[in-house]
Amino acid sequence: MARQELKPVEIANGVHWVGALDPDLRMFDLILKTANGTSYNAYVVHGGEGVAVIDTVKEEFSEIYFSKLEQITSYERIKAVILNHLEPDHAGAVPELMRRAPHAHIFVSTRGLKLLQALLKDELENYQYTLTDTGDVCSLGERTLSFINTPYLHWPDTQCTYLEDEKLLFSGDVFGCHFCDDRLYNDLVGDFRFSFEYYFKHIMRPFKRWVLEAMDKIEPLQPRLIAPAHGPILRDNPLEYVKSYRTLSNSYLTKKIDAREKSLLIFYMSAYGATADMAKHIHAGASEIEGVRVSLYDLQGGEIEPFIDLIEGADGLLFGSPTINGDAVKPVWDVLASLISIETRGKLGGAFGSYGWSGEAVRMIEDRLRGLKMRVPERGLRMKFHPTEDELEECHAYGLALAEALAGKAKPKELDFADLQM
Ligand code: FEO
Repeated sequence: MARQELKPVEIANGVHWVGALDPDLRMFDLILKTANGTSYNAYVVHGGEGVAVIDTVKEEFSEIYFSKLEQITSYERIKAVILNHLEPDHAGAVPELMRRAPHAHIFVSTRGLKLLQALLKDELENYQYTLTDTGDVCSLGERTLSFINTPYLHWPDTQCTYLEDEKLLFSGDVFGCHFCDDRLYNDLVGDFRFSFEYYFKHIMRPFKRWVLEAMDKIEPLQPRLIAPAHGPILRDNPLEYVKSYRTLSNSYLTKKIDAREKSLLIFYMSAYGATADMAKHIHAGASEIEGVRVSLYDLQGGEIEPFIDLIEGADGLLFGSPTINGDAVKPVWDVLASLISIETRGKLGGAFGSYGWSGEAVRMIEDRLRGLKMRVPERGLRMKFHPTEDELEECHAYGLALAEALAGKAKPKELDFADLQM
């Protein structure tokens, strides 16, 4: 069980951890389970010309944070406040810190400025700040901290800060995990491998393109110590964790099918076989287009987890659902809700389904797909009861048109005003 130590911990020469432990947290940001809580790691770097504070903690832990800070520095000595990330779990004590050290200079990424304005409101005009980019530095005299812009890991504002003389990377959420252990270091705490991968999967995975770009910047530094904003400080073999991020990003990218082909996945649920028949005819139509590999899955017989991996590598997704009580059915929503953990922007999407009375499901699914920034080039198909032969032909044509769009063979569409009505 983690104890809330009220002493700062020196993690490198003139560098202290001044973070807080939160062992009782069981759910982070409403989406992440935290079986043994988390930590909010913040750090202080001492230099000849003053002190740099890197990040703060969640607001309710401010007292612990300030108590540790005051044991190693006076507020007058704080020269720089470096904000690697402005999510409230790290920026919660920033307003109070700036009230106590109003002369300190804030360093924040360009994308972080809007968040800083929202956090400090009118108070911001009392302070000095610098917007940072990769290669910019903050000097503490004989020590230099440099900034590495790492956008979208996992917010637009995120950056890492590097202490050159110690080869120490303050990495923000990157390489972090929700794991609370007062022994602090990766070689002393319990087994946190699960937490590390779980965190990556739910926080970083949607941004894996950006992760790979960030690793290109971090790898050449060869840090000897990585101090993330959550979980263990990585002093034993820190480069293993850099390697893991690359491996985790690449593993989700791997496409098992021929890279020259486009992958179209069709998922459906069916109550009386009507939506299933629509799915099969859409599948047959799409399969006629060369260069598109089409797969058909009945959600009644599948688990979400492996589907999410498949979906991440796919180019197009279709969802079929009957309308029951004015809605799409739960297994379809479960998959659609899970797409939050992967990148869907730009994938092709579509929806179809049979209905008996009102038939809202198709439009609701389409709205969700658009909300996920997917392209929905064809209006989805809604068919009352069991489709007729003509309607099944329509399904065939719908599949064909979507596959053509995916293969880049679609002809420009003429807008029919009748299509704009429900
Ligand atoms: Fe740990 Fe994105 O805040």
